[in-house]
Amino acid sequence: MRDPVGVEALGDICITGGGPLGGTISVQSSKNAALPMMAASCLHKGTSVLRDCPRIADVDSMIRILRRMGADVRWEGKDLYLDCSILENMVIPGTYTERMRSSVILLSVMLARKGRGSLGYPGGCVIGKRPIDMHLAALEKLGVQIRESPEVIEAECGRLKGTGICFPKRSVGATQQGILAAVLADGETVLENCAREPEICWLCRYLQSMGARIAGEGSDCIRIQGVSQLEAGDFRVPPDRIVAGTYICAAAISRGCITLERFPDGELDAFLQVYRKMGGQYEGKSGKLLANGNGVRFSPGRIVTETYPGFPTDLQAPLMAVLTTIDGVSEITEQIFENRFQVVRQMNKMGADIRVEDHTAVIYGGRPLRGSRVQAQELRGGAALILMALAAEGETWLEGDSFIQRGYEHICEDLSSVGGMIKKTQEY
Ligand code: EPZ
Repeated sequence: MRDPVGVEALGDICITGGGPLGGTISVQSSKNAALPMMAASCLHKGTSVLRDCPRIADVDSMIRILRRMGADVRWEGKDLYLDCSILENMVIPGTYTERMRSSVILLSVMLARKGRGSLGYPGGCVIGKRPIDMHLAALEKLGVQIRESPEVIEAECGRLKGTGICFPKRSVGATQQGILAAVLADGETVLENCAREPEICWLCRYLQSMGARIAGEGSDCIRIQGVSQLEAGDFRVPPDRIVAGTYICAAAISRGCITLERFPDGELDAFLQVYRKMGGQYEGKSGKLLANGNGVRFSPGRIVTETYPGFPTDLQAPLMAVLTTIDGVSEITEQIFENRFQVVRQMNKMGADIRVEDHTAVIYGGRPLRGSRVQAQELRGGAALILMALAAEGETWLEGDSFIQRGYEHICEDLSSVGGMIKKTQEY
C-alpha cells in the first residue's frame, strides 16, 4: 500500500495492467445528446424533464449557466428538472463559456426568448480552434445583428425570421444552433448541408415532442415551420454512442468479452465495420451488444474520420489505443479537427510507436506497453490512455481525470466492474 500522502503527487487514477476484461456494462446516457436538449428546454416557459440524464461535468457546467440565466434546475435521482419559466439574465461571461464550448448554442435560445444575448467566446482547446463563424452566419441569416468584441459576442434581433441557410461545411453545433433558432421563428426555415449525427436527430425528436414542426432530421436538409410556443418536454436521454464505442475498444485492447446493455442500435455502424474488419467479433440485438476480443488475432487498420455516418472523430483516440497492441502498421487520418493527435506523445511514453505525419498518425503496433505516468489533456484522449494502461505491464498513473469526467459518468467503476484494476487516488 502506498503512502497515501504521496499518492496525489502521482496522479488522479492508478491503473494496473491485467488480463482480459469480462462482464456486462450498462451504457450511460449521452453527453452530446443531453447538452442540446438542455438548451432546447429553455425554449419552453415552464418545467421540462430530461430522464436518465448523465451526471457528468459538462452537464454540471450547463446547469450552472442555465441557473445564471434564471432557470431553476434540480435533480430528482437521475432525472433533471428544468424550470425555465423565468429567464432574465441573457449575459454569459467567458468564464462560463470557456469551460463548456457547446454553451454557444444558447445564443439562439436567448434570442428566441428575449431577442438579445451576450456570450463570452467558447475558446479553443487542444483538439482545435473551435471557431463559431457558421453559428453566427446562420443567426445573421435569421435576422440577428451580431457585434463581436475581443471578449464577447453580442446579438440582438426583433422576431427571428425563417429563411434558407446552407452551411459551408457540416457542423453539429452550427446545425443545432440553426434548429434552436428556427423552431420559434416566423415562417419556414430550410437548413441545408446539415450534420447528420444521431444527436441532431435526438434534439429534433425532443423538440417535436414539445410541439416543434421539424422534418428531415438525419438528412442533410432539415425543414422547420416556426410555431408560436413549445409545450413542456419529458424525454429520456438516449445512450452515449461514443461511450459505447470506448467500451468496445476496452474489450478489444484487453482481448476480453464485454456485453453492453442500453447499446445505441444503429448509431455506430461505421465504427463496427472497422472493428469487424480488424477481426473483432460482435453480435447485437435490441439494445444489447456483445463485443468479443477473446483470442482474436486482430489485424492492423486504416481509418479516416468523417462526419456521420462516417467513422466518428470522437472514437479515433480510443481506437488508436487498440491499434498500438496489434502487430503491423495501422493508420488513422483525422479530417474533422486540426489538432486531435495530442494524446500520441502520452501513448508513446507507454511504449507505443506512433508517428504523426500531417493529419495522419502511423501506428507501428505490437510493441510491449509499460505502465507510466501520463497526462490526459482532453476527454477522449484521456479515456484512450485508460484503455492503454489496462493492456500495459505494471502501473500507470494518470493525471487529468477532470477532463475524462466531462463526458464519462463512471468509466473507472464501469471498467473495474468487468475486471479492470483501476483506483482513484482518493480511494487510497
Ligand atoms: C460536436 O462538437 C461534439 N460536441 C464533439 O464531441 C464532436 O467531436 C464534434 O461535434 C464532431 O462530431 C458536442 O456535441 C458537445 P462541429 P462541435 O461543429 O459541434 C469546424 C466530444 O469529445 N467548425 O461539428 O463543436 C470545427 O472547427 C466532443 O464529445 C467551423 O469551422 O463540432 C471542426 O473542425 C469533442 N466553424 C468542424 O467544423 C463553425 O462555426 C466540425 O465541428 C463550427 C465548426
